[in-house]
Amino acid sequence: MMAAKAALPPPASAVFSIRGSLVTLAILTLISFTYLSLKSIHFPPQPNSSTPPNPILASPSKVLADHDFEDYSDVYHSPQIFRLNYAEMENKFKVFIYPDGDPNTFYQTPRKLTGKYASEGYFFQNVRDSPFRTDDPDQAHLFFIPISCHKMRGKGTSYENMTIIVQNYVESLISKYPYWNRTLGADHFFVTCHDVGVRATEGLPLLVKNSIRVVCSPSYDVGFIPHKDIALPQVLQPFALPAGGNDVENRTTLGFWAGHRNSKIRVILARVWENDTELDISNNRINRATGHLLYQKKFYRTKFCICPGGSQVNSARITDSIHYGCIPVILSNYYDLPFNDILDWRKFSVVLKEIDVYRLKQILKDISDAEFVALHKNLVKVQKHFQWNSPPIKYDAFHMVMYDLWLRHHVIKY
Ligand SMILES: *[C@@H]1O[C@H](CO)[C@@H](O)[C@H](O)[C@H]1NC(C)=O
Ligand SMILES: *[C@@H]1O[C@H](CO)[C@@H](O)[C@H](O)[C@H]1NC(C)=O
Ligand SMILES: *[C@@H]1O[C@H](CO)[C@@H](O)[C@H](O)[C@H]1NC(C)=O
Ligand SMILES: *[C@@H]1O[C@H](CO)[C@@H](O)[C@H](O)[C@H]1NC(C)=O
Ligand SMILES: *[C@@H]1O[C@H](CO)[C@@H](O)[C@H](O)[C@H]1NC(C)=O
Repeated sequence: MMAAKAALPPPASAVFSIRGSLVTLAILTLISFTYLSLKSIHFPPQPNSSTPPNPILASPSKVLADHDFEDYSDVYHSPQIFRLNYAEMENKFKVFIYPDGDPNTFYQTPRKLTGKYASEGYFFQNVRDSPFRTDDPDQAHLFFIPISCHKMRGKGTSYENMTIIVQNYVESLISKYPYWNRTLGADHFFVTCHDVGVRATEGLPLLVKNSIRVVCSPSYDVGFIPHKDIALPQVLQPFALPAGGNDVENRTTLGFWAGHRNSKIRVILARVWENDTELDISNNRINRATGHLLYQKKFYRTKFCICPGGSQVNSARITDSIHYGCIPVILSNYYDLPFNDILDWRKFSVVLKEIDVYRLKQILKDISDAEFVALHKNLVKVQKHFQWNSPPIKYDAFHMVMYDLWLRHHVIKY
């Protein structure tokens, strides 16, 4: 416009400058109108109550205001779906906790929030205090059976008696309330980080077969059913040292493992690599509780922390690795990794078969520095998903477990 104006003879310039202003005004109006229209596409007005709200677009402003995800796209299978479905879960998901059972014995409340079974304790505590809880069974998407195998264990109950106690308790719920019979338990779940949970539920095949089992031991040999059950991350909290991250220059050891030889793969790992100069593999030489936190400090200085399957409950080393910023190397033929239907584990860990133990060093050395840095950056991004809090916070382990439950609730709803 400036060029056109300059080319015109002086007497007409005033007229044209007015016309120019009008054109400018028109263009500005057009731009702002377009802007507002676009804006209204991104922020639709409150849906008319007669039109069913699109679940994907539910509360869009809340979703868009959420900046947690800006550079997260690479650790989730479907970041967009996760973000929107998570928001929907936060708004809608309701769980009914059966009120039966004395909290002073095996029911309702956690045994403790520390140690090997902290995850079970946190879940019991978090769900009771959370907005997901409803006292109205008609509002509930899922029903929680609040019996704690860990508390039974704490009271020295025998396995035989546990089986009887669980059976009596669940049968009493079945005869007292109408909810179980509607689905034969398909919209019910129970939580146990303890491998005794497997034995304690032996008297109730329907519970194990139909209900959602949330466990720390997700392996086929204890009857884990991947499409229905949920792997609970086993997290040894509180952590002795702060989280690691953005510290790749300090990670000079290629690989590290120290632990008990309580499984075949661990025996082989120790036998093959115990004297290696690049892989720091020590057989049971470091006690995590004693010394000057030697065990934990190794995680800060290592690139890859080897996580071979143990006897039963075996994910604590994985979450230790994640916390300390050391890439976990999962060495297991079958292990249903926590949240693997949400998170793409290959983006922040190395997943190997047991047979790969013989080539372990070469496999790790073949990972380029750039690949290692990318894995490490992604690992830092997922740290919050593997941490329990009281009260729980957005995207922490509790919310991820709830999200996994939410993903499974659609199967049947009455
Ligand atoms: C919703 O839409 C219907 C039909 O289009 C209309 O009759 C009704 O008044 C609207 N309700 C609201 C709350 O806008
Ligand atoms: C098991 O239950 C029986 C009968 O109630 C009781 O006598 C026994 O002490 C219990 N044993 C254990 C180890 O809990
Ligand atoms: C549910 O079904 C079982 C087995 O048929 C029965 O014993 C129980 O009383 C039923 N529960 C209710 C609340 O009707
Ligand atoms: C690397 O290790 C040194 C010595 O322990 C420590 O002071 C420093 O903070 C570490 N660097 C990073 C980025 O963590
Ligand atoms: C490692 O060194 C010890 C002590 O020298 C030796 O007994 C053992 O056989 C060595 N292991 C391997 C796999 O070479």
